[in-house]
Amino acid sequence: MNPLSGDVRLETASVSRVIQLSDTHLMRERGGSLVGIDTDRSLAAVCRLIKQVLPVDALLVTGDLAGDEADQAYYRLSAMLTPLEAPSFWLPGNHDATWSSEHPLNTHFRRRIQLSGWDILMLNTQQPGEVAGLLPDTELTALAEAVASARETGRHLLVATHHPLRGVGCDWLDEQSVQNGATALSLLASLGARAVVISGHVHQDSDQTHSGVKCLTVPSTCVQFAPQSVQFRADEEAPGCRLLELYEDGKWHTQVLRVSDEVFAADLTSRGYA
Ligand SMILES: [Fe+2]
Repeated sequence: MNPLSGDVRLETASVSRVIQLSDTHLMRERGGSLVGIDTDRSLAAVCRLIKQVLPVDALLVTGDLAGDEADQAYYRLSAMLTPLEAPSFWLPGNHDATWSSEHPLNTHFRRRIQLSGWDILMLNTQQPGEVAGLLPDTELTALAEAVASARETGRHLLVATHHPLRGVGCDWLDEQSVQNGATALSLLASLGARAVVISGHVHQDSDQTHSGVKCLTVPSTCVQFAPQSVQFRADEEAPGCRLLELYEDGKWHTQVLRVSDEVFAADLTSRGYA
C-alpha cells in the first residue's frame, strides 16, 4: 500500500484555489497512448489550461497517475506539473505501483493539507491486484479522526479519493466504487454540507449528494468515459480538470475546465482499456 503520511500547512488567502487533476495514465515511454489518446500530450494540454487560471495554491492528482506502473511515468508527471508553481499531492489508483516509503517521490503522498478554514484529507482506496476500491482500517481511522477534528474546530473538510464512494450511473464502473464507501459516507454525514468529496477513476464529471455530502468526480486528463453506459464506452468529451475555490468561511465554488485549444480523438470503437 502506498503510504500517505504527514501534514502540510499552506498559507493561503481567504479563498484557497485548488485544482483536481486525475487519471493521467502516463506510460513508461513518452507518447504512450490510452484508447487512442497520447496521454503526455493531453496532460500537457490540461497544464496549459491550468496556466490560464493561475495562481493556484495546490494541485491534487487523484490517482491512476501511471498507466503501467513505470517509475519513468511518475518522474515525468512531477516534471510536467512543476511549471505550475504549486505543490502537488498525489493519490494512488488501481493502475498505480506500490512502493516503499523510501521512494524519492513519496513527498507527494501526504495525508492532510491545511488551508485557510479547510482541511484536505487524502484517502488511499487502492487495493493491490484489484480494480475496485476499498478503504482499509487505516483510511477509515484517518477519516474518523478528520471528521472529529472538523466537528471540534468548525473547520471544513475536503476529502480526496481515487475511486468514488458511490456509483455514478455507469454499471461497469459502479461495481468498482469503494466497496465500503457507505461506511465512509456514514462518517461524513455528521458534517453534512461542511464536507465535500472529490474522486477520480470514472473519467467523467459527476455531481451527486449522498448523506447530505456533496460528492464530485472529474474528467480525466486523457480519455473520457461515457456517462450512463452499461459497458465500457469512450466519450468524445475533451480532457479536463476541476477548479475548486474554498472560502475561509466554508462557502465553496467549483468549475470543470476542458481543453479547447487542441482536439483529442479517442478511439470510440474501443471495447475496453487495460
Ligand atoms: Fe482507476
